[in-house]
Amino acid sequence: MSALNKCHNISDLRKKAKSRLPAPMFHYIDGGADDEWTMRRNTEAFEDYQLMPNYLRDVENIDLKTPVLGTTLDLPFFLAPTGMSRLFHHHKEIGAARAAAEFGTMYSLSTLATTSLEEVSAATTGPKMFQIYILKDRELTREFVGRCKDSNYQALCLTVDTALAGNRERDLYNGMTMPPKITPASFFSYASSWHWLFNLMLSPDFRLANVMHRVDALGKGAMGLIDYVNSQFDRTVSWDDVAWLVDQWQGPFVIKGIQSVEDVKRAREVGASAVMVSNHGGRQLEGSPAPVDCIPALRDAVGNNLELIVDGGIRRGTHIIKALALGADACSIGRPYLYGLAAGGEAGAKRAVNLLKTELERSLALLGCASVSDLGPDHILPLRS
Ligand SMILES: Cc1cc2nc3c(=O)[nH]c(=O)nc-3n(C[C@H](O)[C@H](O)[C@H](O)COP(=O)(O)O)c2cc1C
Repeated sequence: MSALNKCHNISDLRKKAKSRLPAPMFHYIDGGADDEWTMRRNTEAFEDYQLMPNYLRDVENIDLKTPVLGTTLDLPFFLAPTGMSRLFHHHKEIGAARAAAEFGTMYSLSTLATTSLEEVSAATTGPKMFQIYILKDRELTREFVGRCKDSNYQALCLTVDTALAGNRERDLYNGMTMPPKITPASFFSYASSWHWLFNLMLSPDFRLANVMHRVDALGKGAMGLIDYVNSQFDRTVSWDDVAWLVDQWQGPFVIKGIQSVEDVKRAREVGASAVMVSNHGGRQLEGSPAPVDCIPALRDAVGNNLELIVDGGIRRGTHIIKALALGADACSIGRPYLYGLAAGGEAGAKRAVNLLKTELERSLALLGCASVSDLGPDHILPLRS
């Protein structure tokens, strides 16, 4: 049995990732902001909802097909945007995108990816979304829109919860840098991650591939890249800028990082097709609510006029079932596929998606649902009412 086949759930893949990665890289994936309360709560919140089964239904065939963002995915969940995948495995974004495509679901490419949006598009056939920021350099934002159209991205996703970077203390303790630097504090963890080190020597391509041409044009070297990106977060971005971007794109448009009723109503008003109800996996505002807890009120507020995607804390198929039953249209995952990627490259990312898919199919059958579209509030019994 291969090492990946011995991973029977996402938690096993996390352990495998931990054993293979130098500490700075593992904790960059695994950590959250401040005391990590929000990060933990994202997953723990699912325990506040029980699943109520109905028996004696035909559950011979389970249908996971999910219409979202103008397309139909084969799964009710997709891969959320995550930056700098090369830090975790040399298969980087292409490995993750191919895993999504293999299972007929969507891959979201981050602005801060280590593979360009054109390379990802050329290397995979599945549906793709590009995650964009409204940067101080509006010309670059506008350029991304054109490049995404040229490369056939289905949707654009604007992340709005990063006016500035969250306080990730694990990164400070572990000496996380981009590109990676071996320091006295991290020397032993690099030395013991020989797989990772070996591939570092073979392909040391730690470039922020979508933005580096802009940095070069400004006359800064690769070392100025992170400074450039941090300097580009624009705290003055407002709903008017979002309306401008929706107008530029003219296609399925997602706003990621929204949690309040007021904001989902504004999202609908500016013409978004969907929101990713998300707190960035607990990496930004410590104390923000678990996305799954927000869903019923948001659904009441927007009815069926806006798609709601739950993002954060999903580690089990039953978590996805609970989110859908509470009113979400789809879900997305971040760390689960990154643990898989770190544990075994493309095959590891596939393992992560397949584990969640298998759990979904089994749990839906046990719940008495032949299709994800059959899920509804009657399947939920709150633990505390
Ligand atoms: C290592 C890492 C990098 C991330 N990078 C980005 C990013 O570049 N853009 C973005 O919008 N969200 C980013 N996210 C947040 C994810 O898109 C997603 O919201 C989050 O991971 C969901 O929570 P989960 O990891 O518990 O599934 C990142 C998350 C992680 C773990």
